[in-house]
Amino acid sequence: MRGVKSSTERLASAFLASRPVRWCGSSLRGLALASVIANIGIIVTGAAVRLTKSGLGCPTWPRCTDESYVSTPEMGINGAIEFGNRLLTFVLVAIAVACFLGALARRRRSLVRLSVAVALGIPGQGVIGGITVLTNLNPWVVGLHFILSIALIAGAFALWRRVDEGDGEPILLVPAPLRQLAWVTTAAGLAVIAAGVVVTGSGPHSGDQGAKRNNLDPQQISQVHADLVFLLIGLTVALWFALRAVDAPPSAVRAAATLFWVEMGQGLIGFVQYFTHLPVALVAAHMLGSGLVWVATLSVLWSLRTRPAVAPATPTPTPAGTAEPVPAS
Ligand code: HEM
Repeated sequence: MRGVKSSTERLASAFLASRPVRWCGSSLRGLALASVIANIGIIVTGAAVRLTKSGLGCPTWPRCTDESYVSTPEMGINGAIEFGNRLLTFVLVAIAVACFLGALARRRRSLVRLSVAVALGIPGQGVIGGITVLTNLNPWVVGLHFILSIALIAGAFALWRRVDEGDGEPILLVPAPLRQLAWVTTAAGLAVIAAGVVVTGSGPHSGDQGAKRNNLDPQQISQVHADLVFLLIGLTVALWFALRAVDAPPSAVRAAATLFWVEMGQGLIGFVQYFTHLPVALVAAHMLGSGLVWVATLSVLWSLRTRPAVAPATPTPTPAGTAEPVPAS
């Protein structure tokens, strides 16, 4: 039994010491960033599918047609666009697997957990994408597809930032009420995104002529979406002032200022697209902007804390006469 265990351990160590796994370990930061970018990228390619009316370019799932797994020339440009978007899933899978191997190589459970969560989200997206096709582009399912992308971006972002942090208890760099204000701002950002998805479900860009709409009034729901944006911008400005008032680290003040400007850009695109009857280029830019607003929001949250390396389990004896270290208050 012991021999079996030690040979398994030897195999595992040899695997972790192999060159590709070591490469993934040393490149984990870049790989996690690639995962953030790829997950934002797939929102934009999803926009291309919807805005070119290619949502049912492949009319079934997991095959493209009943006879073929891939799109055929007879299916035209719409088939190629939708199938191309399906293929991008493999890019996400490759990056996710590399992140998982990198996390294993680093031998940190926290990183392994995050990389597994991001990796499991991808088959989740595949299944929701499939249900999207099978339900004839039901707008609520399309919306769920978008929201899961937002969750995956959060997971990939967390992995990216955790690579450089330790696994000790998080230490706040600002007074606790400011952290709470940042969480309220994040919640407002999520509410804006959720309302945006509902606006899309009520609008003309369904992805296919025959697709259902959610039958809500686009004008009313756009008003709710815009009102939430005003709330979000107000909270962001309040956060920026509060961070300056307490002399927060410059990186935190910068993160809040960046969030404000990204929101302003996205808000401008939102208004222009609304008043110009949703030209496809602006709608695509608005989808990219949503990913950027979300990443800027996560950056603010991360800028308010730090995580040191785990403290050693047993305190190291201090030489006689040396003062005990005092914990930061
Ligand atoms: C921080 C600012 C904003 C964020 C984060 C945001 C986010 C979003 C999101 C996530 C969607 C759904 C995209 C999709 O499902 O494909 C959306 C759609 C939409 N947003 Fe915004 N939005 C913002 C500002 C605005 C503003 C100020 C307006 C002005 C009325 C606006 C108008 C719209 C419209 C009309 C749609 C539907 C587009 C379509 O039919 O495809 N947005 N927004």
